[in-house]
Amino acid sequence: MKLRSYDVIDHVYDVIVVGAGGSGLRACLGLAEAGLRTACVTKVFPTRSHTVAAQGGISAALGNMGEDDWRWHMYDTVKGSDWLSDQDSVAGMCEQAPSAVIELEHYGVPFSRTDDGKIYQRPFGGMTTHYGEEIAVRTCAAADRTGHAILHTLYQQALKNKVEFFVEYFAIDLIMEGSECLGLMAWCLEDGTMHRFRSNLVILATGGYGRAYFSATSAHTCTGDGNAMVLRAGLPLQDMEFVQFHPTGIYGSGCLITEGARGEGGFLTNADGERFMERYAPNAKDLASRDVVSRSMTQEIIEGRGVGIDKDHMYLHLNHLGRSVLDERLPGITETARVFAGIDLTREPIPVIPTVHYNMGGIPTNFDGEVLTQTTGDLKPVEGLMSIGEAACVSVHGANRLGSNSLLDLIVFGRSSSRRAATLLKGQVRAASFDGAQGEDAIARFDGVRAAKGGSSTAVIRQKMQRGMQKHCAVFRTKSVLLGGLEEIMGAWEMFQDLSITDRSLVWNTDLVEALELDNMLRQSATTVASALYRTESRGAHAREDFPDRDDERWLKHSLSWVDDALEVRMDTRPVVLTTGDYDVQPIPPKARNY
Ligand code: FUM
Repeated sequence: MKLRSYDVIDHVYDVIVVGAGGSGLRACLGLAEAGLRTACVTKVFPTRSHTVAAQGGISAALGNMGEDDWRWHMYDTVKGSDWLSDQDSVAGMCEQAPSAVIELEHYGVPFSRTDDGKIYQRPFGGMTTHYGEEIAVRTCAAADRTGHAILHTLYQQALKNKVEFFVEYFAIDLIMEGSECLGLMAWCLEDGTMHRFRSNLVILATGGYGRAYFSATSAHTCTGDGNAMVLRAGLPLQDMEFVQFHPTGIYGSGCLITEGARGEGGFLTNADGERFMERYAPNAKDLASRDVVSRSMTQEIIEGRGVGIDKDHMYLHLNHLGRSVLDERLPGITETARVFAGIDLTREPIPVIPTVHYNMGGIPTNFDGEVLTQTTGDLKPVEGLMSIGEAACVSVHGANRLGSNSLLDLIVFGRSSSRRAATLLKGQVRAASFDGAQGEDAIARFDGVRAAKGGSSTAVIRQKMQRGMQKHCAVFRTKSVLLGGLEEIMGAWEMFQDLSITDRSLVWNTDLVEALELDNMLRQSATTVASALYRTESRGAHAREDFPDRDDERWLKHSLSWVDDALEVRMDTRPVVLTTGDYDVQPIPPKARNY
């Protein structure tokens, strides 16, 4: 088939999974095990997906190293989310966590072990027992390379189960017909060919968009390509104002130093050598949830107690843990600190600063991964489209995610989406191949970017966007700061209309890849800033200095945002689910904050 000047290669599958991180691979595995013909389209080699960088672990109330109960895990997750999570989904995730982790163990994940051979677990921020009474030991770990261990195991299992991989294929856009998703258009970077995928279902597992910011723990590939495809399909994103800053990114490089370091006994100090978290969170201290620790660090810096020449960061101490704990439990960050900060962890503290780490917002879905859209007030599933992982907003993380709940989310919802897909497709005939010009719009947009002959390079526009987001949509926000952010993003969008592409080839054209990714990030930046302006309260990771209190009366609801091609954002809301469905647990009513 020829579309515009491109020869397009057609493919037909039962399900196309876009993305090969933890959620995408877990979904692929479940789909293949269910006998569905499954293709995984991924822009990076599967074991290079960003899940590989997840360090500290995956939460599950296994109780291997102390008393535990999934209901306590659920309580912590809802409280950590500042009550913005949907409680039926949180109940489901926490209840299924132990079985999902044991299943990973059986697939072959090499978890660290206790002396009696059980999966090793460590404390993590916000995780407690008995509804906030004691610190829980809940996060299952493979040293500090847990994501690496999980990703490699899932990839091997996916290969064993005959998932077909399209590696280094850049997904351009969904192919929609009305409100139904029919497939995907993708560009093969290796040989420059154009591919059109038809399937009964597309599952977007495309990750977050941390790289919209200047300093992020996310890989450079984390550009939220699936979120942007959803926006271009006229569908909304949810809760985009909630961007998580991880308290301990290495100052300067942004590399992640796992929260597991504090779980093993590490602590933060300010310029006075004070363990300042004892003031901000007397109970949880350094293991308070990330929004609390990041705000406290920022406050210390604002009040002049930062360390270093510019007094603009903090110290994380691990030297007291000793060589054997560092070697056995934290070998990855020991090396990261040496390479990226020139620090010997046995002697010196690491300079750290809150760094963009995770997007709580994303594509609205239900527990089964079905993408939801709002038409006349009600939310309805979009036919043929699912989303999982960081791209999705189920919402189990609400306004703030607890550390180690992300790997869990990937695995639980990867699995639930594959189960739902198997149910939906049971007895259905595989979709017939495309027979017309479907997908031509996607190629037209691609061609427009490829042919751009303006005056601004991708690097310059991207820098403007990233600096604008970092400065204007960070830990603390006010209306005027956010309006400045909107101006920066609109300015960057204007420059993008005058884009310059110097390489017109189709084989490994990274100039073009980066421009397409920039288009994706600009759309998400606009919805992020607009959503942050819209929510006039402080909740979780969204701290409005001009509206410092949480306002449950007006804002115990999710935001929805749509964006058009002029980057105009339209906002609406949907209710938070405050019931727990069929799960054997009471809903958790919103409480005042006490840390
Ligand atoms: O700190 C960490 O190891 C990160 C974990 C997470 O974001 O879940």
